[in-house]
Amino acid sequence: MEENIKVGGEKKARKRIYPERLTVDALDGVAELEKLCFSQPWSRKSLELLTNEGIGVGMVCRKDGIVCAYGGMMCAVDEGQITNIATHPDHRRQGYGKAVVEALIKYAKNNHLESISLEVRESNRAAIELYSALGFKVEGKRKDFYTKPTESALVMVLKVK
Ligand SMILES: CC(C)(COP(=O)(O)OP(=O)(O)OC[C@H]1O[C@@H](n2cnc3c(N)ncnc32)[C@H](O)[C@@H]1OP(=O)(O)O)[C@@H](O)C(=O)NCCC(=O)NCCS
Repeated sequence: MEENIKVGGEKKARKRIYPERLTVDALDGVAELEKLCFSQPWSRKSLELLTNEGIGVGMVCRKDGIVCAYGGMMCAVDEGQITNIATHPDHRRQGYGKAVVEALIKYAKNNHLESISLEVRESNRAAIELYSALGFKVEGKRKDFYTKPTESALVMVLKVK
């Protein structure tokens, strides 16, 4: 299935992407992606939490069998907390990040969560644009939340219900 998106005034067809649930067999690939995309990557051991039903959930996209994008969310009572979203640098701007966040939102709806929150570096325009396009609103700021390099975080929230 294809959807039409507007790029530079022209319509461009984009294949619909269907992320899969993160399972143990994809953890090595996701850990590699974490190392590639973040200065303080989650370890494989920490990522395992995202495969424990009721604790966390992960969504993964593969290209030619290799993990090219993933997103994780921890779940506590009626709230989801997005831990990380990452797309391999060679596969950005192809809709993978959006598909992963949409899959997490769908999971939240199906599992009766009230809201999803996340922190994002305030200079991270790509991620802020992505979350805003999906309805997340800035609800606060945590000063110097990040290290390597030190930077404040914006807190963004999506009401799911
Ligand atoms: C943020 C990130 C996950 C986006 O992934 P992606 O697969 O490239 O995103 P998509 O192709 O699904 O983009 C969806 C929308 O997000 C926005 N967006 C994505 N990248 C953008 C960029 N570089 N500049 C501006 N907007 C951008 C656009 O609105 C885009 O829609 P469009 O392509 O139709 O214009 C990716 O850039 C990444 O892995 N960054 C490094 C890790 C990171 O910072 N993660 C977020 C931590 S909070």
